[in-house]
Amino acid sequence: MQQITLLAHDWGGAIGVGAAVAVFVPWMPTPASREAGRIWFTYWFATWICLGIFALVAAVLIYALLKFRVKEGDLSDGPPVHGHTTLEIVWTAVPFVLVTAISIVSAIVLAKDGNAGSNPLIVKVTGEQFSWQFTYPNGQTFGQLRMPINRHVKLEITSNDVIHSFWVPQMGQKQDAVPGQTNPLVITPDRLGTYPVICTELCGLGHSLMRSEAIVMSTADYASWYKSSAAPPPATGGGGGGGSAAGATIFKTTGTCGACHTFAPAGTSGKVGPDLDHLKAAAAKAGQPLEAYIKQSIENPDAYITPGYAKGVMSGSCCKQLSPDQVDQLVQYLGQNTK
Ligand code: CUA
Repeated sequence: MQQITLLAHDWGGAIGVGAAVAVFVPWMPTPASREAGRIWFTYWFATWICLGIFALVAAVLIYALLKFRVKEGDLSDGPPVHGHTTLEIVWTAVPFVLVTAISIVSAIVLAKDGNAGSNPLIVKVTGEQFSWQFTYPNGQTFGQLRMPINRHVKLEITSNDVIHSFWVPQMGQKQDAVPGQTNPLVITPDRLGTYPVICTELCGLGHSLMRSEAIVMSTADYASWYKSSAAPPPATGGGGGGGSAAGATIFKTTGTCGACHTFAPAGTSGKVGPDLDHLKAAAAKAGQPLEAYIKQSIENPDAYITPGYAKGVMSGSCCKQLSPDQVDQLVQYLGQNTK
């Protein structure tokens, strides 16, 4: 009997630990959008139902172990069991009610999470190896996603090359970025802050680096940012001149170079590719004149790889979409403003 009691204790302990791990470990990040809040609710709704059923089954199991243990020396069969109609009706009806409840909650959440309301902010999202670009209604494109708090934002997600997948963990939902197709995703941010944008579809060498930021701003901050974002980029210090200003625009908008590269004059801090603030030293290391080195690095990025970086990462369409004139302006801008 002591052995049986021990067994029951072990079961009880294991069940307690299992339930504590399920409930008290913070498995999910704190939600930062209404959609995520609903998904979290659904998750816990289903989890608590499962915990209740698990506790019930475990309790019956432990009771049966203790109560119906075979007596020492008793080698006979137990009494035959011929079913129990009431029990069968109960264990069919209860799961039916629970599963139906989960279905109804899920259907409501799914419908609400896909509803962008009548006046959403529409942002076009383009994935490409290996960066994200966000284009706003004023036509400006950025390497980061900025959203005003408490407004429906409808992302229209596509890709320039292979399949990527857009995901902000704190906002709950994922959506594939597929070439030639536009997939919607609705986000209604309800917590200020900066959250990671992650690519969750293996898309090539730079997949793990294909990250950006989703910044949730107050309505006033967003409005002033949006207003200033429509203005032409300020003339950069140092070089100046028409070519350089045009180059700055290409850097920030057409090529979205800052999504991958840090460059202080443009105020960008991408970490996918090498830092562009010290190109003179890099050109010297590669044994080339500065402008020739920059041009080669844009047109044929694998010709010389900065130590610590991998070949094939800068293979996206970001640079291929630039005309020869635009490449020259970009080279001039970088050459004049790097150290
Ligand atoms: Cu894009 Cu992984």
